[in-house]
Amino acid sequence: MSMIQVRVRRKLQEAQDIASFELVRPDGAPLPPFSAGSHIDVRLPDGMVRQYSLCNDDEDNGHYRIAVLRDAHSRGGSRAMHDIIGQGDLMEISSPRNHFPLVDARRTILLAGGIGVTPLLCMAQRLAKAQADFQLHYCVRTPERTAFREEIASSGFASRVRFHYDDGPSDQRLDLAAVLADSGPHVHAYVCGPQGFIDHVTASARLQGWGEEQLHVEYFQAAPTDAAADSAFRVQIASSGDIYEVPAGQTVVQVLGEKGIEIPVSCEQGICGTCITRVLEGQCDHRDLYFTDEEKERNDQFTPCCSRAKSPLLVLDL
Ligand code: FES
Repeated sequence: MSMIQVRVRRKLQEAQDIASFELVRPDGAPLPPFSAGSHIDVRLPDGMVRQYSLCNDDEDNGHYRIAVLRDAHSRGGSRAMHDIIGQGDLMEISSPRNHFPLVDARRTILLAGGIGVTPLLCMAQRLAKAQADFQLHYCVRTPERTAFREEIASSGFASRVRFHYDDGPSDQRLDLAAVLADSGPHVHAYVCGPQGFIDHVTASARLQGWGEEQLHVEYFQAAPTDAAADSAFRVQIASSGDIYEVPAGQTVVQVLGEKGIEIPVSCEQGICGTCITRVLEGQCDHRDLYFTDEEKERNDQFTPCCSRAKSPLLVLDL
């Protein structure tokens, strides 16, 4: 993964426990273009890599803006962004990737849970510019925890946004049945937020007859998999011809690591792409969130930190 060096031009406290960061190239050159829904990988001081959605206007590639929630349950990434990274600091990021692109729709419903607003804010800006028919429902615990509240309230699309506060009166809570009442094929919904929020929205939508192709979800954590349902397979190292068994409950990275074959890893969840390895033969069972569907179909590389095999043997270009 080739990285881009950026400088933190501005760090702002956007809400309780949420800071935003404006990132620019140190030499002022433009950054790679991006589309609404894109995210970047950010390399943190401890070497770990985290994914953050871009939440600025997608026509402005002079800078990227990300927002980070201080998460008490995180493995330290959000704490580093809040406590260590400051204005003027240099960081490394990847080029933007988009697994959550907007599709053409007659009507678009954006459903944000907390910090999940970030990609949806970018989408709202894009849809407003295109004068599209859309609504943004922004669910958050309290007004104090609502990132970009003032920015949204004073934007040109404020009339298309509804804030729903957990601590507010019941008549302003999100009425999902009403919001999702129209399940016609011309309507598309985009959901980003905590897993429970995503599950609740998508389950409600399916109950109301929404098709899978109308539901777009952004995950930043790999969905849990059932290791008990995994089966064993073998991997062959192309350069040596050696073959190793990968049992259920162990990853390719773990098995090869025990044999002294180290594959660099970072997230170990299939989201950063650090471990990408070329596959010469065999059928991959992709478990990552890194590759696009087309890239997965090519079947020529996989993420051995989490992905497995559908065929009895995978030959790896190692
Ligand atoms: Fe991040 Fe494998 S280590 S995708």
